[in-house]
Amino acid sequence: GTDDRISRISSSIRVIPDFPKPGILFQDITTLLLDPKAFKDTIDLFVERYKDKNINVVAGVEARGFIFGPPIALAIGAKFVPMRKPKKLPEYSLEYGTDKMEMHVGAVQPGERAIVVDDLIATGGTLNAAIRLLERVGVTVVECACVIELPELKGRDKLGNKPLFVLVSSA
Ligand code: PRP
Repeated sequence: GTDDRISRISSSIRVIPDFPKPGILFQDITTLLLDPKAFKDTIDLFVERYKDKNINVVAGVEARGFIFGPPIALAIGAKFVPMRKPKKLPEYSLEYGTDKMEMHVGAVQPGERAIVVDDLIATGGTLNAAIRLLERVGVTVVECACVIELPELKGRDKLGNKPLFVLVSSA
């Protein structure tokens, strides 16, 4: 069932203390990728949630949203749009906010329906920048989807009333 899938996903994530700074518990999803069942279950859980929601756009946040986003996009028949952190795109890009996010002009059209995918929400600044950028060009952001949430950082609050779907909450 769903709970078994979630526990396998949760235990496949490696937690590394004091990286990148003292006091931070780094959530390493590369070990999840090494477990094909956990990786497939992760993608399946998102696909089950979004397949019948008329989603045209899966916007994946650099860098680990580039891992989880494309298989979801392929399975639900949506396009994949990379949301890049600054100074990576040659030109024709838009950006938003202090947690800067850029995408190609013309990648999305007004009225399209998107989900934003990343591995993890911490302070929520990154997802907030992605949402604002998509909305600025007239895209409806239906929901954000992350593998992991660090609830103590209250990143959810930074998303306003935008729904956030997560598989694993981490202390
Ligand atoms: C991590 C994570 C999210 C972001 C979340 O990326 O993968 O993209 O931080 O943080 P926030 O909710 O506080 O904005 P990281 O900073 O490790 O960058 P990278 O993926 O480009 O290596």
